[in-house]
Amino acid sequence: MTTLSTPEMQILQATAGDYEGVIAISEGVFMGIDYLPFRYHAWLKDPQRRMFVAKLEEKVVAFDSFLVVDGGVTAVLQGLRVAPWLRGRGVAGIIQKFTLDTLRLDHPDVTKIRLTRTEDPPPTMLNKYRLLHSKAVVSIYLLADELEETFMVLESRLPSTSQDFPPPVFLDYSEVRSLFSGPLKEEDILPGRFLIQSWLPITTCKANLDLTQRWRVQWLCTYPFSATRKIDGLNELSEVLASSDITNDGSTSKEDDISVSSTGPSITAVKGFLSLGTPMFPVPLGDGKNRLDIDLFGTDLSCAKIHVVFQLKEAVKALPTGGSVVCSVFAEEILRDGLTGFLDGITLFSRCREQLVLEMDIKPVKTPPSTQCHS
Ligand SMILES: CC(C)(COP(=O)(O)OP(=O)(O)OC[C@H]1O[C@@H](n2cnc3c(N)ncnc32)[C@H](O)[C@@H]1OP(=O)(O)O)[C@@H](O)C(=O)NCCC(=O)NCCS
Repeated sequence: MTTLSTPEMQILQATAGDYEGVIAISEGVFMGIDYLPFRYHAWLKDPQRRMFVAKLEEKVVAFDSFLVVDGGVTAVLQGLRVAPWLRGRGVAGIIQKFTLDTLRLDHPDVTKIRLTRTEDPPPTMLNKYRLLHSKAVVSIYLLADELEETFMVLESRLPSTSQDFPPPVFLDYSEVRSLFSGPLKEEDILPGRFLIQSWLPITTCKANLDLTQRWRVQWLCTYPFSATRKIDGLNELSEVLASSDITNDGSTSKEDDISVSSTGPSITAVKGFLSLGTPMFPVPLGDGKNRLDIDLFGTDLSCAKIHVVFQLKEAVKALPTGGSVVCSVFAEEILRDGLTGFLDGITLFSRCREQLVLEMDIKPVKTPPSTQCHS
């Protein structure tokens, strides 16, 4: 196959009229749980976002976008896709170059770009970007008529939320804005000190928290606590250890926040736990099929289980009768096995195993992008 050169292709600012063309090149993207069909028109209205389409003979053949975040110093690239019949011919490179050139020209204060990808990105990407963080992804498929039974099973697998595990609380946005000036410390639960909200990696600056409010993201928090945990057996012991001895950079903590005795109860200090639930939305997988993303922050497995159930229960209140949900849970790698075991018996949806956050520094340019962008 030959590589396509830029003059054959027009790159334009995307419009509402390009929706059908973008959908036509998106079939099968993300195994049917693509967010773009649902978000396209809202994205167009977002003043912080720019969206681009590449056209060949007036037909949409590629899409890309950026969103300016972190109060104007970072842009996140989102939604890249190329028509299936043109993949492997360099089109992604062409539209990405145009997107980046436009970004540099129009937003000279932006010095970093970030993006998220699933496992095994092309080696050329890893030459350009540095890997900031990687999280485990566990996805399940829930049918409406199985929900009640699923919740019963999951609840039976939860630790008691009474004395040992204080129940998490949903936060209102005044609480969200002051969250990290209280007992919950950003550095304790956010590796790299950024959030990843439904594949969007952003810092906790006020402008970003306001964005999550606009998107009606559900913030659920367990504040730091100390608890006496009875160590019943090897499994519980390894869960407790796994959830307590890993620091945010993945190394083993020397600073012991747990003491374990093989015979009796032990005191655990949990540094808190946070989760973000992105409201469900319909996806192309089929009629009545919805997607729910739950991002977990923290390393305590018991808290992780409790947060998944709380977020799921809150989200499915909005599930239309007969609907079903693909729910993806994003968690620190150390929690993968524990969460997989917790969700055992529920149909797995295997779209991907990992969520990678990549970042690159950029410099502003002074000349317009080589392919004219017509707005
Ligand atoms: C991933 C996809 C956009 C690649 O498009 P493509 O035109 O076939 O890409 P090519 O293999 O020709 O690679 C061209 C360039 O894009 C880059 N690229 C490839 N996949 C990429 C990805 N997932 N993200 C960012 N850049 C990517 C390559 O590194 C290459 O860069 P270079 O020109 O600097 O070497 C295409 O396969 C696709 O649409 N897949 C379905 C949607 C999807 O998975 N999108 C990515 C996640 S949002």
